[in-house]
Amino acid sequence: MTDLPTSIDDTASRLLAHDYVPDRQLATVVYLALKLQRPLFLEGEPGTGKTEIARTLAAILNRPLIRLQCYEGLDLAGAAYEWNYGRQMMEIRLAEGTSTSRDALASELFSERFLTKRALLQSIDPANPVAPVLLIDELDRADEPFEAFLLEVLSDFQITIPELGTVKAITPPIVVLTSNRTREIHDAVKRRCLYHWVGFPDAARELEILKRRVPGAADALARQIVAFVQKLREIELYKLPGIAETIEWARALMELDTLVLDPEVIQHTLGVLLKYQDDIAKLQGSEAARLLEQVKRDVQAV
Ligand SMILES: Nc1ncnc2c1ncn2[C@@H]1O[C@H](COP(=O)(O)OP(=O)(O)OP(=O)(O)O)[C@@H](O)[C@H]1O
Ligand SMILES: [Mg+2]
Repeated sequence: MTDLPTSIDDTASRLLAHDYVPDRQLATVVYLALKLQRPLFLEGEPGTGKTEIARTLAAILNRPLIRLQCYEGLDLAGAAYEWNYGRQMMEIRLAEGTSTSRDALASELFSERFLTKRALLQSIDPANPVAPVLLIDELDRADEPFEAFLLEVLSDFQITIPELGTVKAITPPIVVLTSNRTREIHDAVKRRCLYHWVGFPDAARELEILKRRVPGAADALARQIVAFVQKLREIELYKLPGIAETIEWARALMELDTLVLDPEVIQHTLGVLLKYQDDIAKLQGSEAARLLEQVKRDVQAV
């Protein structure tokens, strides 16, 4: 385990050292979340580095990452714990004909031995040698009632199991929640967290991200890629490309030995950036060429 960052600057430089390029606001909220031991709630556009921040924090702080991917129908059994009925039944069979009293058997059956621990419970297990980073990813995919399960974990870092009692973390885990805002998350959850909206980066930060994530990309090409993607985000599209798409596109273009953008290579690789036919159709014809002309002018002007 490594010590927590000592300042906003320290937070930023340690994120950078792991090739995560934060803006000042993100570095501030991360620093505060760690300092104040509060969960960090990140909402934002897809592919803008929300999940990655949890991975990076685990790496920086040298802690295990426990990930809870949310989905429709996720419940307590999938997220926190489940009694292992199979093993309990076996235990009952084994106890038959022995002198074990019913009370003793009942309390044995609902002991930790028969408990299957899922992500939430694992993250607060007092037996953990170090407190992990708990990533509750894409909370907006879970059903609303599920959020109620989280309240106890998020505010007190504990879970009450009716048959067993309350399990509480000795040292609180570092909690990161993400949402793509396909629906609003309940205020009660948000209130327990520090909130940050993760938007698209400006051109300078996106260029820095690209250089770090795709180190082989030539400077001229990287600048064009970033300028083009930034222009794309100004167009009315159904789904705007995120940072993940910019990185993918750079890799794809390098794979094709592209040195500078031209309308043809853009047309042929649009599927790396845009994932909806309507969006791709918008860029077909002269639109890509028109954007590229603007990009060339902008990049030259810098
Ligand atoms: N600030 C950043 N610095 C460096 N790399 C970044 C940054 N933001 C995003 N990335 C890169 O973009 C990729 C996608 O990020 P990530 O998976 O965290 O997005 P996300 O916001 O969780 O998206 P989704 O909502 O689709 O899950 C990461 O693997 C990382 O390589
Ligand atoms: Mg994600």
